[in-house]
Amino acid sequence: MIEKPPGPFDPGTGPGAPSADPDVHRAAAELARRVGPAVRLTVMTGAGVSAASGVPTFRGPEGLWKRYRPEQLATPDAFARDPRLVWEWYDWRRQVIARCHPNRAHEVLAAWARRFTRAIVVTQNVDGLHERAGLVDVVRLHGSIWEVFCSEACPGSPPRWRDERVPLPDLPPPCPYCGGHIRPGVVWFGEALPADAVARADAATTCDVFVAAGTSALVYPAAGFLHQARRRGAFTVEINPAATEASASVDLVIRAGAEVALDAVERHLAAHA
Ligand code: OAD
Repeated sequence: MIEKPPGPFDPGTGPGAPSADPDVHRAAAELARRVGPAVRLTVMTGAGVSAASGVPTFRGPEGLWKRYRPEQLATPDAFARDPRLVWEWYDWRRQVIARCHPNRAHEVLAAWARRFTRAIVVTQNVDGLHERAGLVDVVRLHGSIWEVFCSEACPGSPPRWRDERVPLPDLPPPCPYCGGHIRPGVVWFGEALPADAVARADAATTCDVFVAAGTSALVYPAAGFLHQARRRGAFTVEINPAATEASASVDLVIRAGAEVALDAVERHLAAHA
């Protein structure tokens, strides 16, 4: 059985108040000077962008991988061994995410995508909060927790479909087409990323400004896109309250929660519109 969450997740930096930190203010102003409708802007997001919404991150003191072992829950072997256990974990995560709402970071990115025609968001997140904030076109590198597909790839079933039932009535949920098991539409350890998403993310590293927001920059190939963007001449930015593997190699660091940093950038843009 999956242990239920120990209590309300501490989202860390809360949304709402503008940042009073002068370093954050300065760095946000610098990023604001560099973005706009004519700029090819790529923002790659990770779990930290949803932290202020209450979605647990994977690493760090409160991270999911502190409490759970990926090889038991997020690999094809784990699913073959114990599909019910794997589904209990995903069903629990779906319940947690269903109670969460997009935060200011999701909102600002959705607004940029509307205003800046050359902006693109690439995400490692499977929670769907970018879409719920109104972002229409997001490149999903790791799939979606709200999609499923038949684990047998049975001939009658579509390649994948949305299933937003929370909680799921039967675990493991049966495939409505063949009666086998469906599985979450997320990328597991040891699996290839969706080729179309990788191709779009790769193309998006040819840009003027590349922002990595809320990611530990440890999981490849996603983590490699930042370095590739830098090699291709982009101005690179990290938004993260903590230092990461990427911190030393970016051009600009905004040491704050994404919901604070992106809000600060948006305020600068509004003030100078
Ligand atoms: P991680 O959990 O590895 O890292 C989250 C990052 O967010 C950390 O660097 C935190 O410091 C930072 N963070 C925390 N709060 C934040 C906030 N309010 N604003 C901005 N940043 C904040 O998450 P990812 O890098 O996304 O893969 O993890 C990458 C992949 O590893 C995930 O997609 C998942 C996981 O295993 C799969 O499931 C395939």
